[in-house]
Amino acid sequence: MAGPSSKPTRIGLAGLAVMGQNLALNIAEKGFPISVYNRTTSKVDETVERAKAEGNLPVFGFHDPKSFVMSIQKPRVIIMLVKAGAPVDQTIKTLSAHMEKGDCIIDGGNEWYENTERREKAMAELGLLYLGMGVSGGEEGARNGPSLMPGGSFEAYKYIEDIVLKVAAQVPDSGPCVTYIGKGGSGNFVKMVHNGIEYGDMQLIAEAYDVLKSVGKLSNDELKNVFSEWNNGELQSFLIEITSHIFGVKDENGDGYLVDKVLDKTGMKGTGKWTVQQAAELSVAAPTIESSLDSRFLSGLKNERIEAAKVFKSGDILTEQEVDKQKLIDDVRQALYASKICSYAQGMNLIRAKSIEKGWELKLGELARIWKGGCIIRAIFLDRIKKAYDRNSELANLLVDPEFAKEIIERQRAWRRVVSLAIVSGISMPGMSASLAYFDSYRRERLPANLIQAQRDYFGAHTYERVDVSGSFHTEWFKIAKKM
Ligand code: 6PG
Repeated sequence: MAGPSSKPTRIGLAGLAVMGQNLALNIAEKGFPISVYNRTTSKVDETVERAKAEGNLPVFGFHDPKSFVMSIQKPRVIIMLVKAGAPVDQTIKTLSAHMEKGDCIIDGGNEWYENTERREKAMAELGLLYLGMGVSGGEEGARNGPSLMPGGSFEAYKYIEDIVLKVAAQVPDSGPCVTYIGKGGSGNFVKMVHNGIEYGDMQLIAEAYDVLKSVGKLSNDELKNVFSEWNNGELQSFLIEITSHIFGVKDENGDGYLVDKVLDKTGMKGTGKWTVQQAAELSVAAPTIESSLDSRFLSGLKNERIEAAKVFKSGDILTEQEVDKQKLIDDVRQALYASKICSYAQGMNLIRAKSIEKGWELKLGELARIWKGGCIIRAIFLDRIKKAYDRNSELANLLVDPEFAKEIIERQRAWRRVVSLAIVSGISMPGMSASLAYFDSYRRERLPANLIQAQRDYFGAHTYERVDVSGSFHTEWFKIAKKM
């Protein structure tokens, strides 16, 4: 087995599925000799082979956990990239048996933050340090520069700081896409919200596609051009870019384009659902992210939708509209941008609420900075978010940042036109309309919540506050109404 002959390696990585392999090769390429281990040993050999093929990178493979752990310099640092949940506990058990006081384990998976906090405590009892590190960017990001969100023991972060600063994506003018996030499970929590925002972005893009295709009758070639043009402006982002690529891919096994042959049923692994659960838990409105989750649920009911389409004999579009294609494209671009601002505002406020609850002291501007490169939601737009928090770190909501407020005002007519057009046409637009409703609720001084309070007090004596006198009031609404 290829092990280091005498000199210990700088770090270890356990869990060699594609993400793990790629991250190991990335670390080795940045000049840090790395030991690798996997329960299924063929993966170890595969990784070592790849390391050879990709430039004789200093990757050393081990088939047993003990010699793997022993091969790493002290204090030992091991990154795990295994499936969240029980496999993480199992891997910790296997590795920690051979580790010594002061050594450190880092979980790089999409783990539930409370599991990380539980493990950090258990590790501390053994004298071991622990980090939960969000890793974003998919396979490509892991290999060439991901966005990294490490949280937990600061001492442990310091052990790996030199490595992560080099391994993370590098963005000119704003540095490596990594920062120490904060204590406890904050790294996992921030990654979870990143994924919730990712769901929102993908949903908004899908809705833009739907209205352009279904109402605007754009072909895949036209959609490809529209998205690649958008990628040169304010919407420039990884997701817009890959979307433009997708529209260009022909079906190798038949006629036409592959995108039209893909089943309209979205899968998911769970982080978006956790984000929505946390939003409810913390009483933070996150309707755009929530609508993206609901849309995934509804998309999953493919068979029921086939039956419903027969019941309503509706066809695709309810009312055919005469549209000016170019104007529609321009309106949709603006609607997408404005909707995106609302979605990010929701995600950021969720992070802030959790940070307050847990005393994590998270810096929202810094999070926007490390999301500028490497991760799935990377976008030019994140620089604007960073600047908004630089201007005012206490900003109540991104919507009221002067720059974003101006951009929304400039786009709101187009935004309303697109949502109205979709509603009239019978095209569901849950993300964009949820964003618009979020904006319309947030910008209004007075909402109809007074009526809801009156109803609650009527049937349940829940009391209400008044606009003119402070205190808590109850009215015998029923008795008064009876006399009327
Ligand atoms: C990333 C992604 C990644 C996530 C996938 C799948 O940042 O690289 O967020 O971590 O696992 O995007 O998520 P779903 O299967 O839930 O859509």
